[in-house]
Formats: sequence, C-alpha cells, structure tokens
Amino acid sequence: MEDPTNPLAPVKTYHRSDQEFAPSESRSSPWSREHRTSKCCVYILLWAVISAAIALVFALVVFRVETPDFRLSDVTIKNLHYATSPVPSLNATLIANVTVKNTNFGRYKFENGTSVSVLYAGHPVGDRIVINAGRARARDTKEVNVTMEVRSSWLGSDVVSRNLSSDLNSGTLQLSTYAKLRGRVHLMEMFKRRRTAEMNCTITVDLPSEKVQNVRCS
Ligand SMILES: *[C@@H]1O[C@H](CO)[C@@H](O)[C@H](O)[C@H]1NC(C)=O
Ligand SMILES: *[C@@H]1O[C@H](CO)[C@@H](O)[C@H](O)[C@H]1NC(C)=O
Ligand SMILES: *[C@@H]1O[C@H](CO)[C@@H](O)[C@H](O)[C@H]1NC(C)=O
Ligand SMILES: *[C@@H]1O[C@H](CO)[C@@H](O)[C@H](O)[C@H]1NC(C)=O
Ligand SMILES: *[C@@H]1O[C@H](CO)[C@@H](O)[C@H](O)[C@H]1NC(C)=O
Ligand SMILES: *[C@@H]1O[C@H](CO)[C@@H](O)[C@H](O)[C@H]1NC(C)=O
Repeated sequence: MEDPTNPLAPVKTYHRSDQEFAPSESRSSPWSREHRTSKCCVYILLWAVISAAIALVFALVVFRVETPDFRLSDVTIKNLHYATSPVPSLNATLIANVTVKNTNFGRYKFENGTSVSVLYAGHPVGDRIVINAGRARARDTKEVNVTMEVRSSWLGSDVVSRNLSSDLNSGTLQLSTYAKLRGRVHLMEMFKRRRTAEMNCTITVDLPSEKVQNVRCS
C-alpha cells in the first residue's frame, strides 16, 4: 500500500517548482511527466493484479486436495483348480499390486490395517488381505504386492448352486475386491486433510485358459 503513494509525492512538488521558475515554459514537460507517472501507476497496478492472480492460481493448484486413486493392477491368477462335480468348487490364488496414486502436492499417509475383501457374487471367498500403514509420496504412486487366496468353501450352498455352478459351466467367472483406505494428505508440513479412498474392482477370469481376462476398477 505504501509503494503507490510514494512515487506520487515528489511529482507534485516538481510540478509546483516548475511553474514557479518557468511559468512561460510550455506545459509539455510536466504533462509528459504526469503522463509517465500515471503510466507507471498503471503498470504497478497491473503487476499487483497479475501477481495476485498467479498467487491465487498457485494456491488453488497446490492446496487442492484430491482423493488418491486406489485400485488393483497387474492381476494374475495362479493355482486355479475347479470342478463341477460332485459339488461345484473352485480354488485359486490371485496375485496383484495394490496401487495408491497420489496426485496431490503433498504426501498421503494411510493408516495401518486396511483390509481388502475378495468377493464372489457379493460374498467373501477368502481371507481378507491386510495392508500395513504406508505413504504415497507427492505426485507419486505407491505399489504393494498382495496375494489373495480364493476358496469357494467360503460360500454358502445357495450361492454355490445358484451362481458358481452356472459360472463354472459358462467358463467365465467374476470376482471383485473391495477396500477402504483411510489416510491424510499432508500439505507443506502445515495442513492435513483427511481423505478416504475406496477400491472397487471387478476381475473377470477366463477358466479354460486360466487367465485374467479383464480388470475394471471404479
Ligand atoms: C479346493 O480346496 C479344498 C480344500 O481347501 C479341497 O477340499 C477342494 O477339493 C479343492 N477344490 C478343487 C477343485 O481343487
Ligand atoms: C501395523 O499392524 C501390524 C499388525 O497388525 C503391526 O505388526 C505393525 O507394527 C503395525 N504398524 C504400524 C506402523 O503401526
Ligand atoms: C446369482 O444367481 C441368481 C439366480 O440365477 C441371480 O438372480 C443373481 O443375479 C446371481 N447373482 C450374481 C451376483 O450374479
Ligand atoms: C508391483 O509393485 C512392486 C512394488 O511393490 C513393483 O516393484 C513392481 O514393479 C510392480 N509390478 C508391476 C508389474 O508393475
Ligand atoms: C512382494 O514382492 C517382493 C519382491 O518382489 C517379495 O519379497 C514380497 O514377499 C512380496 N510380498 C507379497 C505380499 O507378496
Ligand atoms: C462397486 O461398483 C459397482 C459398479 O461399478 C457398484 O454397482 C457397486 O455397488 C460398487 N460396490 C461398492 C461396495 O461400492
């Protein structure tokens, strides 16, 4: 606030002294000087507005907190065994990387004990996987490899007879994974913002080829 007023003060005194010493002189020189100072004021104002705009954009970009993207990647299936009789049954091992993609300008620290459930037709088909506390650095992706055992013995007999039986016959099976990751985004060592990321992935398995056909996460 002090800067714009200071340059104005000396100009006024110059103007007065010019008139006293040379009243007959043309008004062109004080006029152009005045013109110059007003131009200068415009530049100062413009500079202030532009720097304020840059500061605002910077703050909006840096301090915007986004929920990290939490998903499965590189899913492979191993030890796949299935039979349709005497009872429909399926065992398999899923190996995958759990990824936490952090697009923020600060690290994301997630809490200990995040559990990932593997589901078939909405029902658990194996032990939950527990992910320990960790962090995804600023604008970086953290990857943790996990191994999930799928056992149809976890399913109720109704799901086995209604859903698993027909899926085994059709040769395609859908599994899904669900998890909630709780943590905080740390900005400039000053601010912490709580963000909970959800994983919801659908894995399509092609049984005859024993391969993962498709992984879709929402
Ligand atoms: C799956 O594993 C269970 C024991 O965990 C076993 O009884 C069953 O026969 C296996 N199923 C297949 C198709 O291998
Ligand atoms: C997370 O939990 C596991 C067991 O549940 C424990 O061994 C480990 O020390 C914990 N880690 C932290 C950072 O609290
Ligand atoms: C399970 O099977 C029943 C009967 O065929 C069907 O209505 C239901 O949508 C199936 N559930 C899933 C999750 O596919
Ligand atoms: C899976 O994550 C690990 C780190 O845990 C990484 O070294 C590896 O490259 C990842 N695998 C793939 C296929 O990206
Ligand atoms: C992840 O991969 C590393 C080396 O690639 C291995 O030492 C570790 O046991 C794996 N962890 C899990 C949970 O599979
Ligand atoms: C997972 O996503 C599907 C659609 O992609 C949705 O129908 C389902 O309700 C979601 N599950 C959870 C637990 O959010």
